[in-house]
Amino acid sequence: MKNKIITIDGPAASGKEKISKYISSKWKFKHLDSGVLYRRLALILLEAKVNTNNVFEIKKKINQISTISYRKTKKIRTQRISQLASKIAIYSFVREYINKLQYNFVKKNKNKQGFVIDGRDIGSVVFKKADLKLYIEVKPEIRAKRRYKQLIDSGEKSIYPKILKEIKLRDKKDKQRKHSPLVIPKGAHIIDNNGSFRKTVKNITELLEKNLK
Ligand code: DC
Repeated sequence: MKNKIITIDGPAASGKEKISKYISSKWKFKHLDSGVLYRRLALILLEAKVNTNNVFEIKKKINQISTISYRKTKKIRTQRISQLASKIAIYSFVREYINKLQYNFVKKNKNKQGFVIDGRDIGSVVFKKADLKLYIEVKPEIRAKRRYKQLIDSGEKSIYPKILKEIKLRDKKDKQRKHSPLVIPKGAHIIDNNGSFRKTVKNITELLEKNLK
């Protein structure tokens, strides 16, 4: 079972990370969260005060970057970075740059058991020939409720209607952009994650055992 690739696509806050982490630890697959790369690039642009309405300025900055970190820190989880990542993700040159980083990641780790890679276009564009494709589906209201609880539990201030509005706005941006919009990839298995995580895990385990022999 070497070098298998599992792709996980789905909208914001649909539980892709939790599902990826579960697969990664149970099957010893290397996890790559492609959203981190978009978020990291957004942070670089923000800190360098790049005008993100100007494609030439973004291109110039990308040409100056030697590497992008894969680290998940609190700094890249803010609402400002979520929105900026979604904004710059519309540009094809940004997507090509991030896709290259993903291909390098797989190349560098090719002695690993396999990979679980999550994002918006992984099964539809980046790894079209993946061994198994999953698409996670959860209603916006449930996603907003979960995100709201997460923020309150971690001691942050949060307003449910505001979160729901932001989630719907990000869905619209991710689904309606011209390049690599969020779609259900051809051949993907749809995973209903509206219910308990235990139920989702049960479905995924059955699917993986059947498909990854
Ligand atoms: O998964 P996330 O919330 O960390 O992703 C942040 C943004 O990055 C998302 O709104 C759109 C963009 N993104 C993308 O366009 N394609 C990906 N494969 C991953 C993320």
